Amino acid sequence: MQPLLKVDRISKTFVEGAKRVAALQSVSFEVYQDEFVCLLGPSGSGKSTLLRIIGGLISADTGQVSWRGQPIMAPHPDVGLVFQKTNLMPWRTVLQNVLLPAEVQKGQIAAADLEQAHNLIALMGLADFSNSYPRQLSGGMSQRVVLARTLLQQPQLLLMDEPFGALDALTRERLNVELLRIQRHHASTILMVTHSINEAVFMADRVLILSDGAGAIEAEIAIDLPHPRHLSMLGTARFGQLTTQIRQSLALNDELMYDELTHA
Ligand SMILES: Nc1ncnc2c1ncn2[C@@H]1O[C@H](COP(=O)(O)OP(=O)(O)O)[C@@H](O)[C@H]1O
Ligand SMILES: [Mg+2]
Repeated sequence: MQPLLKVDRISKTFVEGAKRVAALQSVSFEVYQDEFVCLLGPSGSGKSTLLRIIGGLISADTGQVSWRGQPIMAPHPDVGLVFQKTNLMPWRTVLQNVLLPAEVQKGQIAAADLEQAHNLIALMGLADFSNSYPRQLSGGMSQRVVLARTLLQQPQLLLMDEPFGALDALTRERLNVELLRIQRHHASTILMVTHSINEAVFMADRVLILSDGAGAIEAEIAIDLPHPRHLSMLGTARFGQLTTQIRQSLALNDELMYDELTHA
C-alpha cells in the first residue's frame, strides 16, 4: 500500500546570528490512509517545525515531504491545518470565520455549508458564541473555532499542533472522543502533536516519539487498543502498559526532559 504522506529524511537547522539550532535531523516516517498518528516529544524537540514543514508553511533544508507521491512545496488544498497560533479574522463572528474558506472557494455559502457550520460549532460547545467575535473568546475557544473551520473543509489529512492544550480536562476528553468520531465518519487521516501521553495513547493508532537534542524519531509505538475508543479504556491494563512503555522510551532519552514533559 502506498502511504498517503511520506516524510523522507527531513532536516532543518535554524540559524540566528552565531547560534545554530538543529531542530530536525533526518526525520523519516509514513502515514497511511485513515491512520491517526500522534507525535510526542519534549518541548523544543522539533514537533511544530516538523508539522509546519509538512503543512508546506516552511521549507526543509534537506529531504522531502510527499503527498500521494507528489512533493509538497506549499500548503495543499487536501491538507487542513490547526496550529497553535489561531488566525481568526477579528472583524468576523465565529460563524463567519468558520464559513470563510467555503465562501472564498465557492463565492457564496450553500445551505448545506451553513447547516454543517452550525453543527460543527455546536459540536465544539460554542453554539452560544456563533455571533461572538474572536476578542470575546478564550484561547481554547478560539482554537475550537479553527478546528470547526478546518473540519468544514473536510480535509483528507488533518495536521494538528496541540489543538487541545489550552482546554480543561473534561472538555479535552469530550473533544478527543468527538474528533475520533468525526475521523471515522469522514474517513480522514490525522497527524497530531500532543504533550499528553494519555491523549496520544487514547487517540492514536501509532505514536511517534521525537527525541530532544537529536531532533530525530526515537521510537515508534503501535497502539493496539480496539476501535471505537471509549473513555473507559483509560482505566484498562493495556492502556496502562502502553503509557508506561512510552514513558520509558522518553525516560531513556533523558530523565529531566521526561519530567518536564509529564508535568507540562
Ligand atoms: N523560527 C525559528 N527560528 C529560530 N529557532 C527556531 C524557530 N522555530 C523553532 N526554533 C527552534 O527549533 C527547536 C524546535 O522548535 P519547535 O519545533 O517549536 O519544538 P516543539 O514544537 O517540539 O516544542 C527549538 O530549539 C526552537 O527554539
Ligand atoms: Mg510546538
